[in-house]
Amino acid sequence: MGLPITIKKLKTMKQNGEKFTMLTAYDATQAMLCEKAGVDTILVGDSLGMVVQGHDTTVPVTVDDMVYHAKAVARGAPNTVKMVDMPFMSFAYPAQAIDNAARLMQEGHAEIIKIESTIHQAELITALSLHGVPVCAHLGLTPQTIHKLGSYAKRGKDKAEAQIILEDAKKLEQAGADMILLECVPAELAWQVTESVEVPVIGIGAGKDVDAQVLVIYDVLGMSGYIPSFAKNFLADNSSIEAALSAFVAEVKNGAFPE
Ligand code: KIV
Repeated sequence: MGLPITIKKLKTMKQNGEKFTMLTAYDATQAMLCEKAGVDTILVGDSLGMVVQGHDTTVPVTVDDMVYHAKAVARGAPNTVKMVDMPFMSFAYPAQAIDNAARLMQEGHAEIIKIESTIHQAELITALSLHGVPVCAHLGLTPQTIHKLGSYAKRGKDKAEAQIILEDAKKLEQAGADMILLECVPAELAWQVTESVEVPVIGIGAGKDVDAQVLVIYDVLGMSGYIPSFAKNFLADNSSIEAALSAFVAEVKNGAFPE
């Protein structure tokens, strides 16, 4: 077996123009299957509040929930980079963010944490970074703010909002973010962000001109009840879960997904 993938390696992959893959996983078996299929990074997403716990939104998810699932994922995929979400209201101010990030890393074995961000999180991203916590800034559609947004619609469709997202991405990179994740933004904006920052940009519903693609594993395996327009049920054309996950990896790497 080769050396485990590291955040440094993911940055080198961007520099070399090599796409990488990310899937969500919430338990040890899903994580083990992702690792076996060659998925480069696993996201323990707070989407678990909806797909595992059955809530309507991700708002009820707690740090304890994230630690529980992250621990299980770490046991299943010891050699894969694990990103873990900071749930709603767990990073309201820098000291709280540092305490909770410490739990996700020390108890949950996260290698990088993800924070739904705007420029207002710049200060705490710097504080985390200075304490040795790698951070992925999640921009665009930020599901934890659903009660302010009112819908899960695409973000950055108008010029002014697109400009804010682009500027925020650049400023959060300067603040210390190690990766950017863009959810549900126009492909052109995602491309601009990807060209404007040196850190890897991961997209979901953000077109193909980004450095990496992430999907929710329940969508990839057709278990979500419905498939978002930007996702794909890879199990539909494959005869096993292993083959479906490998097809996701292959199609991202060769540019076939997203179409
Ligand atoms: O929680 C999650 O699964 C996510 C992805 C949708 C990117 O944040």
